[in-house]
Amino acid sequence: MRKPFIAGNWKMNTDSRGAVKLAESIVRDCGDTTDSKVDVAVCPPFVYLQAVAGALSSSPVALGSQDVYFEQKGAFTGEISAAMLKDVGCTYALCGHSERRHVIGEADELINKKVHAAVSGGLLPILCVGELIEERKTNKTAEVVTRQMKKGLAGISEAKMPAITIAYEPVWAIGTGLTATPQQAQEVHALIRKLLAGMFSEKLAEEIRIQYGGSVKPDNAAELMNQQDVDGLLVGGASLKADDFVTIIKASV
Ligand code: 13P
Repeated sequence: MRKPFIAGNWKMNTDSRGAVKLAESIVRDCGDTTDSKVDVAVCPPFVYLQAVAGALSSSPVALGSQDVYFEQKGAFTGEISAAMLKDVGCTYALCGHSERRHVIGEADELINKKVHAAVSGGLLPILCVGELIEERKTNKTAEVVTRQMKKGLAGISEAKMPAITIAYEPVWAIGTGLTATPQQAQEVHALIRKLLAGMFSEKLAEEIRIQYGGSVKPDNAAELMNQQDVDGLLVGGASLKADDFVTIIKASV
């Protein structure tokens, strides 16, 4: 059985006080839900990681970053290494979020380097994949997701794979209020699991958690989580409200 994994991606939101207050409210309102039934993480902006780490200390809610650079140190102005993220208390790192791919322009090769750097640096990467609306309309979803999976995980050994979570986030569902139907989500999650079985093994594919992301809300979380291959949720907007995020967490167990 795969343990549910709910992560909140705060994107470029909050301020220093608001970030700490949000983290404190999530910890308080989760109560003991997180203890054994579900893994929970929040991914604040880089500049608030350390403050949020303080608010999460001695709680089961883990800290994640929204990105990671692949080099270890040196002249890479503006970038943040895996070691730095570990140093401030991160457990997870998002890699290849759709906004990094489509707004910032990251390619599969760069994302693959980030996945490798995160694993080598002792972080647990969440590799995000997902198609654009034009790609869905032209029946290219499977092709796009297959390419992102193969290129994103190139060179990762089966032994290292258990560190990795996959997040399927159809780009057309992100921040639009247009959630994928549970059936649409399940169809792509099943494809991702089949890809993992082919790239690694059936056993590994059964272990890896696949999150769904894209307009997840308190009222659609349970239905999405009921799908056989949906093991968790990557929540954007609704993770900025402690009430909504905690309702989603509780609906997932
Ligand atoms: P929304 O939940 O705001 O659609 O964002 C999803 C997302 O991109 C999470 O990483």
